[in-house]
Amino acid sequence: MEHITALYPDIARTPRTWLVTGVAGFIGSNLLEALLRLGQRVVGLDNFATGHRHNLDQVRDAVGGERWGNSRFLEGDIRSLDACRDACKGVDIVLHEAALGSVPRSIDDPITSHDTNVTGFLHMLVAARDAKVGRFVYAASSAAYGDWPGMPKVEEEIGRPLSPYGAGKYMNELYADVFGRCYGLATVGMRYFNVFGPRQDPEGAYAAVIPKWIAAMLRGETVYINGDGETARDFCHIDNVVQANLLAAVVSDPRAVGQVYNVALGDETTLNALHGMIAEFLALRDPEFAAAEPVYRDFRPGDVRHSRADISRIRRLLGFRPTHRVREGLEQAVDWYISRLGPVTKRGERLALSAGGVPAAISNSPDRMGHPLAALD
Ligand SMILES: NC(=O)c1ccc[n+]([C@@H]2O[C@H](COP(=O)([O-])OP(=O)(O)OC[C@H]3O[C@@H](n4cnc5c(N)ncnc54)[C@H](O)[C@@H]3O)[C@@H](O)[C@H]2O)c1
Repeated sequence: MEHITALYPDIARTPRTWLVTGVAGFIGSNLLEALLRLGQRVVGLDNFATGHRHNLDQVRDAVGGERWGNSRFLEGDIRSLDACRDACKGVDIVLHEAALGSVPRSIDDPITSHDTNVTGFLHMLVAARDAKVGRFVYAASSAAYGDWPGMPKVEEEIGRPLSPYGAGKYMNELYADVFGRCYGLATVGMRYFNVFGPRQDPEGAYAAVIPKWIAAMLRGETVYINGDGETARDFCHIDNVVQANLLAAVVSDPRAVGQVYNVALGDETTLNALHGMIAEFLALRDPEFAAAEPVYRDFRPGDVRHSRADISRIRRLLGFRPTHRVREGLEQAVDWYISRLGPVTKRGERLALSAGGVPAAISNSPDRMGHPLAALD
């Protein structure tokens, strides 16, 4: 991300005020970092439900004190309309990321997921409308495809949602569309597929598969694969997601606004291939990691077998050009987790990789709820 100014000179030339909700989370903190590097002013909103202060600390250390001075953090909850109104004051562009992620979480507790992901979303739309925000870009999800069997996934063909999370994310799209029609709010939906990269949380019951596996392998713990490992997803590196958001935020073509876009690579990677690549990159630091074999067990009920995006719409209307394939993104992510998780070899020696001077911010504790499944939403 160091060279981001050269990639987006138009944004860098025009300082604007951005609101990033969910700023202490994985995607939000990466957006914050990119925007501060581009000399933008950023208001961040988060209630630390799943995000962490150490993510904000890492951004501050990465961008330096002067740029960090262009940010303002509000601890607040999008379930409060007043908090949303405060956050939207004087804002040009909203990047709305705050939500409770994870399909299993929404199945365990649909009311809390709905309160944040749907009611909180509606609060943000109302607050953005009333503050006369110029653009409202929001985190939608590939979960909107639900039981649609077609492949690759094309934006206009969706099935029935398979979870409260999927229903909520689809409702976001419906509300965003309605706010465009009724109030002229300029919205753009980002249907993320499986995003990965630095600062994605490896801990907790609902951790995503890539950080969970890397952390487990670094600790010498068993990696479990649900099913035969040929389940596949369109894994997308965070830098591609940052690019999609920046393009959506400033695109001037009116045809490109009021749309939802797949944000992905348009490629499938199986769990077996993913495991092999992670083991390979870890083995570059310690050959013993290459020997780590996964343990296969039953399929997780409800998991779709394959998911791959058609990305022609985002290419055509936003000029999206992914910069990171899965392989190079994974190599970078593995380095990052090694530097944060206290790099040790399987024999307990330290790995010869720079830790970047940032203290390990992520504990080595087992899942809070002892949940064995890595999320593949
Ligand atoms: N990571 C993925 O693969 C993926 C895929 C599809 C969609 N998404 C969506 O992208 C967005 C960001 O996801 P992420 O992976 O960065 O997750 P994350 O959990 O790291 O970040 C979400 C952030 O929102 C904050 N938040 C939650 N509830 C809140 C509330 N009521 N008020 C204020 N802040 C609140 C959390 O504390 C956290 O910092 C979410 O909307 C998620 O549903 C992510």
